[in-house]
Amino acid sequence: MKNKHWDWKINTSFFFCSDWAAMDVWKNPLLVLCFILCFSLQTHLSLGGDTISGNQSLSGKQTIVSAGGNFVLGFIKRGNSSSSNHYLGIWYGKVFVQTEVWVANRNNPISDPSSAELKLLDGNLVLFNESRVIIWSTNLNSTISNSAIAVMNDTGNFVLRAASNESKILWQSFDHPTHTWLPGAKLGLDKKTNVTQLLTSWKNSDNPAEGLFSLEVDPNGTSQYFLLWNRTRQYWNSGTWNGQIFSLVPEMRLNYLYNFSYVSNDEESYFTYSMYDPRILSRVIVDISGQIKVLTWLTNNQEWFLFFSLPREQCEVYAYCGAFGVCSENSLSSCSCLNGFVVKSPNDWGMKDYSSGCKRRTLLRCENNASSNEAENKFWEFSSTALPDNSHEMYSESDAACKLACLNNCSCNAYAYSGGNCAIWTEALLNLQQADDGESSAHTIHIRLAASELLSKSNGKKIVIAGVVSSVGIILLLGLVFLEIWRKRGSVVNPEVVEGSLMAFTHKRLQIVTKNFSEKMGGGGFGSVFKGTLPDSSVIAVKKLESISQGEKQFRTEVRTIGTIQHVNLVRLRGFCSEGTKKLLVYDYMPNGSLDTHLFHGKEGSKILDWKTRFQIALGIARGLAYLHEKCRDCIIHCDIKPENILLDANFCPKVADFGLAKLVGRDFSRVLTTMRGTRGYLAPEWISGVAITTKVDVYSYGMMLFELISGKRNTEQSEDGKVRFFPTWAASKLDAGEDILTILDSKLEGNADAEEVRKICRVACWCIQDGEIHRPTMSQVVQILEGLLEVNKPPTPRTLQVYFDTPEDIVFFTELSTSQSSQVQSNVSTSSQAKSTTSAGDKS
Ligand SMILES: *[C@@H]1O[C@H](CO)[C@@H](O)[C@H](O)[C@H]1NC(C)=O
Ligand SMILES: *[C@@H]1O[C@H](CO)[C@@H](O)[C@H](O)[C@H]1NC(C)=O
Ligand SMILES: *[C@@H]1O[C@H](CO)[C@@H](O)[C@H](O)[C@H]1NC(C)=O
Repeated sequence: MKNKHWDWKINTSFFFCSDWAAMDVWKNPLLVLCFILCFSLQTHLSLGGDTISGNQSLSGKQTIVSAGGNFVLGFIKRGNSSSSNHYLGIWYGKVFVQTEVWVANRNNPISDPSSAELKLLDGNLVLFNESRVIIWSTNLNSTISNSAIAVMNDTGNFVLRAASNESKILWQSFDHPTHTWLPGAKLGLDKKTNVTQLLTSWKNSDNPAEGLFSLEVDPNGTSQYFLLWNRTRQYWNSGTWNGQIFSLVPEMRLNYLYNFSYVSNDEESYFTYSMYDPRILSRVIVDISGQIKVLTWLTNNQEWFLFFSLPREQCEVYAYCGAFGVCSENSLSSCSCLNGFVVKSPNDWGMKDYSSGCKRRTLLRCENNASSNEAENKFWEFSSTALPDNSHEMYSESDAACKLACLNNCSCNAYAYSGGNCAIWTEALLNLQQADDGESSAHTIHIRLAASELLSKSNGKKIVIAGVVSSVGIILLLGLVFLEIWRKRGSVVNPEVVEGSLMAFTHKRLQIVTKNFSEKMGGGGFGSVFKGTLPDSSVIAVKKLESISQGEKQFRTEVRTIGTIQHVNLVRLRGFCSEGTKKLLVYDYMPNGSLDTHLFHGKEGSKILDWKTRFQIALGIARGLAYLHEKCRDCIIHCDIKPENILLDANFCPKVADFGLAKLVGRDFSRVLTTMRGTRGYLAPEWISGVAITTKVDVYSYGMMLFELISGKRNTEQSEDGKVRFFPTWAASKLDAGEDILTILDSKLEGNADAEEVRKICRVACWCIQDGEIHRPTMSQVVQILEGLLEVNKPPTPRTLQVYFDTPEDIVFFTELSTSQSSQVQSNVSTSSQAKSTTSAGDKS
């Protein structure tokens, strides 16, 4: 390690040292562990290496290990110490987080493995439990009887074959997968028997028994996959294979690790995959969450890295929360119970198996007498994005008549009424999904509850509500007073002011001021932008929004919220137009256009931004984002930070544009992903891994943009000496090697920059693009660092950089060189002891 260029502060070197120390500590116990393991294997192993043959058998702690040591076959223990179950299974030999890839007797556990036995019997592999009962077998009508042997292969495939002929395979575990699909295995359809291979989730994290979710290729022979609930109901499909990706899985585009292929002939059709770099361990599983998860093992970090999960949202998994359970995307726990219901099996829920659902807290009392039922049963309104599909439908004159139909039926649990159609549910309610307030696709479903439930509930609520109402009332009153003042003020200046500080335009009027939308300035992910001039000769930018799914009321609410957000580094919203599907936003016009034109295109009229300006731009954007993230009443995540969305005013003061629009478009992540596909270089890994999106996605995109500010080129199209390289990776390695920082600077600047500032920006950028969001700084920390109030430590090289962007050859770099982040220090920035005065950093405008 060259380090002469680094003027390390104590904390810096501490950080670096801790990395190395951690590496040693990590490595050594592993070695020790390995010795112990090898040693213990040898003492237990009565069998020769990777094979079971002849009269040999496997029991207790005995294992067989594949030739290269990749996979181990033996008995697995699951459950707690008082009631533990044992299974014959295969797990990774070199992954020290116990990870099973196959289980033989998943539905028939063994209680005592020392008296259980796996052996060859008449050409079959059979597993006896402690009572000498066969609980699992390869079930072949074998013809070659005792000349068969069973071999554990290094691919994870456990094969029963003829002893004399390696290619005469009688049975293999790859043909009978459990919940894991390994590289090299097929997952498809046998056209002769019409049987598909199913990957089926575990029951819960501690029980390999067959769960409710499974993946199979379309049994009708098309090239797509289905996810099924309870083997029958399909809740997700991949779309058909187009030779490169499944049409509904754009995530695969970002993937340079996996080589997928599809084979279809008269006998079978299947998919299989391999790793471009076979040293990378990877697996595809159907998780207990009902999602497909694609994972790779990070050797240096000693953890499984989740590439992505499908479907992307938890609530898309059918009936995930069980009967009377409610799935909600935006809360801490995905599952909860309907009002008046309680968790049926807290143990299962504790192990993330929600399928048992909820039960009534108070049983319904019901007789065949409508009037007494009406007194004892009440209905509670629930707003769900999906209605359970097992309803009985009938015509009904009114809501009241529909309600009566439910009351008169003692097994009726709920009803929903809409325009003459009355639906009642007499079975358990499945697949309820909490709708957001005002969501346009929401359905109201009336849940039948014992009257006592509703009484006690509403009492409790009233007290809370009363408190909230009184304080809200005061705020509302103040708000109204202000609104009135605004309106009065505005109405003198402009008759169009109606909504707070915002002008409401008619479409006709915008057509006139933009000369019928003739001057197009650009088009973003959310719609095209046109230039216009108001009668008072102020220039405006009019954005025509596309694909707004929201209703009128909610649109106005959102727009009003955006309108209240004002900051020197945010583009001001001046007004809007909302007429049916015509939705437009009116902004201040920014004479210097967007940052990308100055950075990349060298367009006529654009100037080369000098380093001082670039630094001020970086700081300004950070301030604008910090304001959005932390200072607004509701935190706003921008979701689409890129140079195109940074506008520059006459003084090159940066203004963030398009904030708040992601919310307008709605929470349809797949759409967001599709609209942003063109700018994937700015997307944080969590966009495709399916975990919740936080403000840290903006921090990530901001970091990517900082690199472009330094280099003056797109990160993805950097090329020096004819080689294409991903700039952040390259810059990070330069930073790591301690080379002259100015060598990474935009050559157009001819070295005219403050090296200390370049280094600072580079470090900040590297911290911002850390894979784990908790390791990224907040935007206000970034502001403080750039203002010189916080010291920034030397960052580690983010590990997914290479995975996402580099060519397969470079993956070696990722596996071998990525720094040991296992010891990641939580606070990646530390308050400097020599913090400068807060007033030192002047705001440009
Ligand atoms: C080995 O088995 C394969 C597949 O069944 C067969 O095609 C091949 O002829 C066999 N080889 C010998 C030497 O028996
Ligand atoms: C799944 O389907 C089976 C019948 O195929 C049924 O008996 C069982 O109750 C179903 N499971 C759930 C959780 O509904
Ligand atoms: C139904 O219940 C009401 C009130 O409990 C009672 O007055 C009425 O007689 C009952 N009717 C029948 C048919 O049982």
